[in-house]
Amino acid sequence: MNILVINASPRGKRSNSYRLTGAFLEGLREEAEKRGRETRVTELCVKDLKIDSCLGCFSCWKNTPGQCCQKDDMERVLKLRLWADLTIWSFPLYYYNVPGPLKNLIDRQLPMVLPFMKEREDGVGSGSHPSRYDMTGKRTVLISTCGFYSARDNYDSVCGMFDHICGKGAYETIFCGQGELFAVPELSSRTEEYLAWVKRAGGEFMAGGIREETKERLEELLFAKETFEAMADASWGIDQESGERQEESLIFTKQMAALYRTDAWDGKDRVLEMYYTDLDKTYQILLGKEGSRICTDGSLKATTRIETPYTLWKEIAEGKVEGAQALAEHRYRVKGDLGLMMKWDDFFGGKTGREDSGKEETARGSEGILTGVQAPDQKPVMTSFLIPWIVFWAAVPAWPTEGGVAGIAACLFSSLLFFRRRRTIYDLLTGIGVAGLSLGILCGIPYRGAVVTSYLLFGLMWLLSCLGKIPLSASYSMYEYGGRQALHNPLFLSTNRILTAAWGVLYLFTGLWTFFLIRGGLGWGIGLINSVAPALMGVFTIWFQRFYPARMAAGKSR
Ligand SMILES: Cc1cc2nc3c(=O)[nH]c(=O)nc-3n(C[C@H](O)[C@H](O)[C@H](O)COP(=O)(O)O)c2cc1C
Repeated sequence: MNILVINASPRGKRSNSYRLTGAFLEGLREEAEKRGRETRVTELCVKDLKIDSCLGCFSCWKNTPGQCCQKDDMERVLKLRLWADLTIWSFPLYYYNVPGPLKNLIDRQLPMVLPFMKEREDGVGSGSHPSRYDMTGKRTVLISTCGFYSARDNYDSVCGMFDHICGKGAYETIFCGQGELFAVPELSSRTEEYLAWVKRAGGEFMAGGIREETKERLEELLFAKETFEAMADASWGIDQESGERQEESLIFTKQMAALYRTDAWDGKDRVLEMYYTDLDKTYQILLGKEGSRICTDGSLKATTRIETPYTLWKEIAEGKVEGAQALAEHRYRVKGDLGLMMKWDDFFGGKTGREDSGKEETARGSEGILTGVQAPDQKPVMTSFLIPWIVFWAAVPAWPTEGGVAGIAACLFSSLLFFRRRRTIYDLLTGIGVAGLSLGILCGIPYRGAVVTSYLLFGLMWLLSCLGKIPLSASYSMYEYGGRQALHNPLFLSTNRILTAAWGVLYLFTGLWTFFLIRGGLGWGIGLINSVAPALMGVFTIWFQRFYPARMAAGKSR
């Protein structure tokens, strides 16, 4: 397949529209490769071509049929137009139409048609000129970005023109609003997601045609209208009232504030204070129910204060530096409420167009092909593996046989109760451990030994998990902090590793003292000690979860 790409952005390869074209081509080529089809791509950059405007002399019709009297790069363009099986027109929207140089190029295609008048079969316009060449089977794709929040209703002139040129419905389009966002590295997670859909469209186009679902995704806004417009307004760096140019760090902070999601508001207003240490500048962002507001006079009471070099914060925002890692390395400090940091993406993820339209399920909090995030009701819960152990420990010492039955029943009950939840390795180990020991008791092994063993097994499970990548408690708690993304946060991991180890040690000791209490004839004290100890550890856990990350984030410990 011969493919001609006509890139008509004056920005050349830095064009937003061309980024979409690149993704489309990538998908197309991959699919062609899978199908064993060869693709040959020729790219033309209109800004680098010498194409004068049409003289209107009709020489190409009268004197030298099919040949223009002007000798410039258009000769090559016409040859390539005939060579190509597919032409991709890639351009920005300028004044609701194609940029001027591209219109010149389109006008100069006059030699490609015959002078005669012909009725149109598709009813577009009042007639047409038949093609001088056989163009059957040749395909056309228009790819363009525009500056407004939506592409909808912006491209009627463009489509009107191509309906005349190619015929109504005889070409594919990918039009995307908010085009300038493709050049903003801080927003790459959303724009990359969009580009992945464009790539998919390329593959599907090669396979026959772009699927409806893909088209729907391509029509979605990158960000909700208000989010985009707040970001776009801030990006000009001009004070709306005074018209004066603003400080770069203020523009940047305003754009960050524009990404605030009001649905993260949990009933309490927060004030995020950004202190850029290298610039000695402080900005406050009030995060409220209705939206965010920047305050530059420091009059608000900060709930979270971030002290960071501006350069570092920009690198974090651009995804060049991992924020959580940098925090753990004390390259910046956080004081006050750390909760905001732990749920940063919930607060500053920027509301996408999809969410705004209510079609949330694949954008956040669910297992989307692009996000990989778990659906809420599939998250594993710790209760599912705690229930069997607790039933076993409560029932077996009092009524060993019935306790054995209860242990097995608790395993089944827990599996049924949480059958929609994702199971972890610990749920599986619990099933094997509790059901195995319960069965053992029913088969006659001494119940005291089984109870001691159960505590040791439980403790070992916690302790050994610390040697792996994900400590036991993190396997469950990560879903409260953005799913697997939390595993990139060293503070989250170290907090969980310490707590998991502490619980492991507690239960190993529980096994030991249970053994000695039974041997010493003090079995009556087991129930009391084995309830009080975990309760105290629970209190410690709640305190430590707040204290440790906050202390580390404030840079008080290395
Ligand atoms: C002269 C000019 C005219 C523009 N006209 C429009 C327009 O009519 N509608 C629109 O939504 N955006 C308009 N824009 C914004 C561009 O379409 C937008 O910035 C686009 O993403 C640029 O794409 P590119 O990087 O591929 O050149 C205009 C930009 C310029 C410079």
